[in-house]
Amino acid sequence: MRQNDTTARIAHVFSGTFVHSTPRAAVEILENCALGVNDEGKIAFIEKDIDLVSLSKIWRFETSDIKQLGKNEFLMPGMVDTHIHASQYSYTGTALDLPLLEWLNTYTFPVEAKYKDLDFANNVYTKVVRRTLKNGTTTACYFATIHTDASLLLGELADKFGQRALVGKVCMDCNSAVPQYKESPSECKVETDRFIKELLKKEYPNVKPVVTPRFAPSCSASLLSELGEIANNNNLHIQSHISENKEEVELVKTLFPGCKSYTDVYLKHNLLTDRTVMAHGCHLTDEELEIFHETGSAISHCPNSNISICSGMLNVRNVLKHKVKLGLGTDVAGGYSPSMLDAMRRTLDTSKTLTIQDPQHQTLTFEEVFRLATLGGSEALSLDEQIGNFVVGKDFDALRVNVCVPDGPIDLFPGEGPKVILEKFLNLGDDRNITEVYVAGRQVVPFPDT
Ligand code: GUN
Ligand code: ZN
Repeated sequence: MRQNDTTARIAHVFSGTFVHSTPRAAVEILENCALGVNDEGKIAFIEKDIDLVSLSKIWRFETSDIKQLGKNEFLMPGMVDTHIHASQYSYTGTALDLPLLEWLNTYTFPVEAKYKDLDFANNVYTKVVRRTLKNGTTTACYFATIHTDASLLLGELADKFGQRALVGKVCMDCNSAVPQYKESPSECKVETDRFIKELLKKEYPNVKPVVTPRFAPSCSASLLSELGEIANNNNLHIQSHISENKEEVELVKTLFPGCKSYTDVYLKHNLLTDRTVMAHGCHLTDEELEIFHETGSAISHCPNSNISICSGMLNVRNVLKHKVKLGLGTDVAGGYSPSMLDAMRRTLDTSKTLTIQDPQHQTLTFEEVFRLATLGGSEALSLDEQIGNFVVGKDFDALRVNVCVPDGPIDLFPGEGPKVILEKFLNLGDDRNITEVYVAGRQVVPFPDT
């Protein structure tokens, strides 16, 4: 047992069942355990089968402060949404009848243009941060819009409500059917610099900027180069979209005839780093996946969106075979659900559809999908040294789950153990079952005002 040799005080102690993933085990169930969180929000200890009175003396906490989980409860790591458009939240659940390129011009760009208005932005961004937190998203990798001030506001709101976030001011200088919804290349560079500087200056502990070229068809080659340089000079994350639908892949071939592939476009502009996450990737070739592996870039799998706007089906098993980092994304509003539980279910659906098409395909298990939503997401965002599972020294980002809340969506029956309880939660649960949410040790759900 580690002794309490640090000065950090213990702020929370939980006792009961904890469920998480490790690189070796997709699901590890720790029963009869105690977990302590220090006042810096980090996991101080995890002890199994230990006498709580002795533990309280070693770590100097009151046994009366222990939060004892009931038999239908467990703690799990917070979920990581590796790709979500905060600015599209207002029309989530609608407008799913067009393929990607028409969908962007018809629905998306006209709505995103409205974020010039900070009152509009404040309303939608407040709602998306609260909705996702309530649904267990402790970390979100957000696309905002081209508007610097509204993007800064999204960062402010994530910090206010206590969500961990990467926030991207969108960069695009061509091919928009909405004339006012794009920037000139020089404006885009100046505003991206301002966004990064101003957001970093706030020194929010858990909210950081991410360099965000929308996708190759929206960006000139010179803008892509500028953004690669900004990201690399400042050691920043990068996010974009790649190979989502076939029409888009063909368009990129015509727009960048000097590049061997869609992946090569980003590679040539220094946008593939070990801090890059690219959404979709449904139509990437094995050769392109090899480049992802070599550069340490990650893929955000967005199955709801891939099906909802008929883009394609990512073969996650093949991506994992190439040892490419992979997390899950809701891709609101191409995806119609802001819940990462939905992203897990849709990941399983897609995997099973691939098995129906090819019985040789090895279907993903619910345990593997649980890992993708937590530890996998943290790896995809290169945050796995800080979050993703329950390891001493990592930040405590966690969900308290109760599968038997009154009037809840789950029924349990005698003899059902923790693995079945987890599986039922993943397949049947919703935000009613997520009774408490913690980010870096701070309890953020229930909201302080409710
Ligand atoms: N590709 C470029 N922009 C977008 C977007 O907003 N949503 C999706 N799904 N794909 C994109
Ligand atoms: Zn997207």
